[in-house]
Amino acid sequence: MPVDPKEDVDREERRVFLKAFGGIGAALFLLSMGTFEKIFGFFLKQDLTRDQEEHILSEKIQRLEQTAHEKKLELERLDKDYILVASLDSLSPVKGIYFIDYLMRPAMAFCDDDGFPIVLSAKCTHLGCTVGNIVDDKGDILCPCHMSRFSIKTGAPVPGSPAKAPLPFLGWAIIDKNKNILLTQDPHGKRQGITDMDKLSGSSLYVLKKYSEEA
Ligand code: FES
Repeated sequence: MPVDPKEDVDREERRVFLKAFGGIGAALFLLSMGTFEKIFGFFLKQDLTRDQEEHILSEKIQRLEQTAHEKKLELERLDKDYILVASLDSLSPVKGIYFIDYLMRPAMAFCDDDGFPIVLSAKCTHLGCTVGNIVDDKGDILCPCHMSRFSIKTGAPVPGSPAKAPLPFLGWAIIDKNKNILLTQDPHGKRQGITDMDKLSGSSLYVLKKYSEEA
C-alpha cells in the first residue's frame, strides 16, 4: 500500500516530540533530586544536637591539623639534608622510636647490644600496615594486621609470616651538638667514622636524605 507522505511526516514529528519530552522529564527528575537532597540535607543539619555539631567540627579540625602537620613534615624533608630521629642515649633495644622517613613512610629506630642504632622501615612489606615497635624475647617485632613477624637484626620476616620481603634498613648518621658528623652507616650496613661509643655519647641520631635517594 502506498505510504501517505503527510502521515509519514506526522509520525516523525510525534517521535521527535516524545524523545524531547522524555529528555525534559529526565532533566526535571534529576534537578528535583538535587533540590530534594539539598532540602533534606538542610533539615538533617537542623536536627543535629550541639554535641553532634561540635563533634563534627572537632573531627574536621583534627583532619586539617593532621594535613597541616604532614605538609610541614614534607616541607622539612624537602629543605633539609638530614632529619633528627632521637638522641643516641634514648634508643632502646626493646622499644623502637617511631619517626617519618624521607619518603613519608613510618620508620623506627632501636639500638643494638653495643648501643649502635638499628634503623628500619616500619611499613610492613605484606600490605603496608605499620609494624609494632615492641621487640619480643626472640628479637622480633610484630605487624598487628596479619601477624607477620620481622627480625630487627636482619629485617627478614620470620618463616610462616604473610610478609615475604624484609623490612629495609635506612642509612643514618650520628651528629654532635656542633653539627659534626661523627659516624655514618649506609643502608647496607657500611660504617664510616668514630666507632667508640664513649665518644658518641651525647650525640643524636639522624637519617640522611642522600641515603633515601639511593633507596
Ligand atoms: S600488613 Fe603486615 S602482616 Fe599484613
